[in-house]
Amino acid sequence: MFHPVQAFSFKKTCYGVYLLLWVLASGLHHASAALNSCSRDTGTGGAFLSAGDSQQVSIPTVQVQTDIPSLYKILDGFFPVGAAIWKGDITGPHSELLRKHFNSITTENAMKMGVLQPSEGTFDFTTADELVRFARANLMLVRGHTLVWHKQNPPWVFKDSGGNALRPTRENRALLLGRLEKHIRAVVSHYKGEVYAWDVVNEAVDPEQPDGFRRSPWLEIIGPEYIETAFRIAHEASPGAKLYINEYDTTNQAKRAFLLKLVRDLKRRGVPIDGVGHQMHNRVDYPSTAAITETLEMFSELGVGNQITELDISVYRNSTDSYPAVPEGVIFEQGYRYRELFQTLRRLKGKVSSVTFWGLADDHTWLKSFPIVRRDLPLLFDEQLQAKPAYWGIVDPSRLPTAAGVRQRNGAAR
Ligand code: G3I
Repeated sequence: MFHPVQAFSFKKTCYGVYLLLWVLASGLHHASAALNSCSRDTGTGGAFLSAGDSQQVSIPTVQVQTDIPSLYKILDGFFPVGAAIWKGDITGPHSELLRKHFNSITTENAMKMGVLQPSEGTFDFTTADELVRFARANLMLVRGHTLVWHKQNPPWVFKDSGGNALRPTRENRALLLGRLEKHIRAVVSHYKGEVYAWDVVNEAVDPEQPDGFRRSPWLEIIGPEYIETAFRIAHEASPGAKLYINEYDTTNQAKRAFLLKLVRDLKRRGVPIDGVGHQMHNRVDYPSTAAITETLEMFSELGVGNQITELDISVYRNSTDSYPAVPEGVIFEQGYRYRELFQTLRRLKGKVSSVTFWGLADDHTWLKSFPIVRRDLPLLFDEQLQAKPAYWGIVDPSRLPTAAGVRQRNGAAR
């Protein structure tokens, strides 16, 4: 699983040959950044320079493992396995890793409204199209994310022609409904036949509100009907697409109760909703597998489907801790958590129709900057794209060390 020898020689390679090439190719400034990146990384030698989503630079030292089972093939017959991706994932070793282990993708940011319609009536599908083309060429499914959300919206959408924030008036309600409708029609039609499932409405529930609806501008200006409208229009634009309401923390009882009520109500009124997307941004200690099972079964009993849409398992238990180097014991614990979760998901066969990880490998994850900037390693492949205990927990749990083995390793490390 871990390759200390390989890691050591990799480290040498990282500091030696590639640093030299880097100096020659990119000048001293980049070299010193690369050196920082190497020394900041797991201690196994970093292979990436991460300077924000759009500028991640990979130094071509990583070798994708070819002698391990393909994740999606192992899970064939249960559900497709997806990864949220960005442009950097469709070239080089990242694309190899993606093609080997995943048969579905979600665009992490490229289909959000702010990206697709930066100014009113002007659509920019460039990046999303590239990712979709990659998926098609590699016979992967595409989940669309997301049509209506309170974040990553273009600044114009909640403003009037004078640039003032829209107040909740009857005129503005009609204006915003029109914008919502135009956006969804354009985007869903553009990807008709390509995107098989949409996260139509994202994070609409807020259990702190007496009625359970998040106070987003969509809600404040249009009212709760924005949800039903979004589903109806998406369905009109692509009747074959599966439509989901996507939400985080769905095991939270209060939130789950509101979501159940909302979905039941939408179904009763004939709104074309196929299921619930459970984001599942989990932690090593939360939520319990029992709560996950209960939640998935509750929605199943309601007669809608479940998809796991944004899975990751943070190595932290709270919002403030920060490890300079993540202890090996925690990485193993995470492996056990993934094992347990996938045992459950396999047991629930037929009730979960897709599982997507929120990222491909630990070198690129939103959790490096949320809730604070810290080293988090939430996915199945490490920063050098190598399979972690998390991967083995799903693919072959017998490769995980026993509890005694973990203690021994931790003891030995001290
Ligand atoms: O694209 C700009 C870039 O031009 C600029 O230089 C840079 C400076 O910070 O920002 C870039 O935008 C960032 C964007 O990701 C693309 O990288 C934003 O700052 C950053 O806030 C944004 O974060 C995304 C986040 O949603 C926004 O809330 C994450 O990548 C993305 O993983 C995350 O995904 C969400 C799901 O859509 C919904 N569920 C929760 C999940 C995690 O937050």
